[in-house]
Amino acid sequence: MDRFTYADGKLACESLPLSKVAEQIGTPCYVYSRATIEEHYRRLVEAFRPLDPLVCYSIKSCGNLSICRLLGELGAGMDVVSGGELFRALAAGVPASKCVFAGVGKTDAEIEQAIKADIGLLNIESEAEFENLGRIAQKLDKTVRGALRVNPDVDPKTHLYTTTGKRETKFGVDIERARNFFVEYGQDPQCRLTGLHLHIGSPVYTTQPYVDAVKKTLALIDDLALLGHKVSVLDLGGGFGADYESEQSLLAADYAEAIVPLLQDRVAKGLKIILEPGRTIVANAGVLLTRVLYVKKSGDKTFAICDAGMNTLLRPSHYNAFHFIWPCEPEPPFVPTKRAKSMDMPGLVPIDVVGPICESGDFLAVDRPLPPLKRGDLLCVFTAGAYGMSMASRYNSQPLPAEVLVAGEKMDVIRRRETYEDLVAHER
Ligand code: LLP
Repeated sequence: MDRFTYADGKLACESLPLSKVAEQIGTPCYVYSRATIEEHYRRLVEAFRPLDPLVCYSIKSCGNLSICRLLGELGAGMDVVSGGELFRALAAGVPASKCVFAGVGKTDAEIEQAIKADIGLLNIESEAEFENLGRIAQKLDKTVRGALRVNPDVDPKTHLYTTTGKRETKFGVDIERARNFFVEYGQDPQCRLTGLHLHIGSPVYTTQPYVDAVKKTLALIDDLALLGHKVSVLDLGGGFGADYESEQSLLAADYAEAIVPLLQDRVAKGLKIILEPGRTIVANAGVLLTRVLYVKKSGDKTFAICDAGMNTLLRPSHYNAFHFIWPCEPEPPFVPTKRAKSMDMPGLVPIDVVGPICESGDFLAVDRPLPPLKRGDLLCVFTAGAYGMSMASRYNSQPLPAEVLVAGEKMDVIRRRETYEDLVAHER
């Protein structure tokens, strides 16, 4: 669900018409709904309440400080994958004790930063990383709580680029190796291996991969117990879906219905659960506004050339991802009642929605059935809150767009649009 709806034919975020945002802030611009973020977070917490998990919001999905602060105030911890993300979490007022630090390529400086901050949990991806961690912890004379990232070899049935739970990825170690890992390092006094970490992929639209991964991991936990190693934390990672089309994704309650029964008695015996959701909280809570600059015909094709492109939202060109795109103020017959790849309305025409970047791979949609467009039309790219702004770049020296957080009919600019001076600020 989200709070981007057409009222009297005009698209509004909560109670604020998006045309007003575009007039005041300009385009391109990311707009987030505060109530949607809050509701998604609460639904997740409610659904998984029987497990009383620590919900660590995955900063990589949308790292704006105001959004991290909002979620921190609701009680979330943070899932970070770099020193920069840890810096963000702390700057947003989230205590390091509620942060988990994952990632295959942590530098010595990042490990040191995390240990000094007294991070809640360091998720370890390889033997070499463990040894490095031990060395750094010893130098700092600190102990660290670590979780081993296990690769359960399940297929999340998602895009190849975001499939992480299969054996042939750079992430984690397989189950057999995990056993040996604990035999080798399980008694290390400096780095306490207290947990296991999973993250099988993103987005995962069915529950079975989670069920399979959790079952395999519980069997591993039992094996480790027989070997004398107690696992007290299980971090299930992220990956829950979002609605790029209407009602595409399972709800938090559906994921919980499959996962909770597998873990409830373990939790009763003291196992602590962590979740790392990103997309499911913020994807539908954010949209991208872009203005049509020109409509151009080339051969049989019609292009709507917009002021947002692959630099603003990379997902379509990088993953061939579908984002529903529609005018904010369409003519009356074109007010949509759903969001889908193929909209069955008379009068739609196939249009390529493209950006200003000097590459033919710069597109937001290809051959998309849309109402006829004209210069000046304001378009909304939906479900852009996750991996939108966080993957935006300054390619072609395009300044990064503004970000706005809406609550009711009020808006806050939570990141100002970059200027040309910003573009060159670090250069000489
Ligand atoms: N935890 C770990 C260890 C992760 O690697 C990720 C995402 C998450 C949690 C959060 O996953 P989520 O709940 O957001 O699905 N750029 C891609 C998605 C990459 C996901 C990377 N890892 C996209 O635009 O679809």
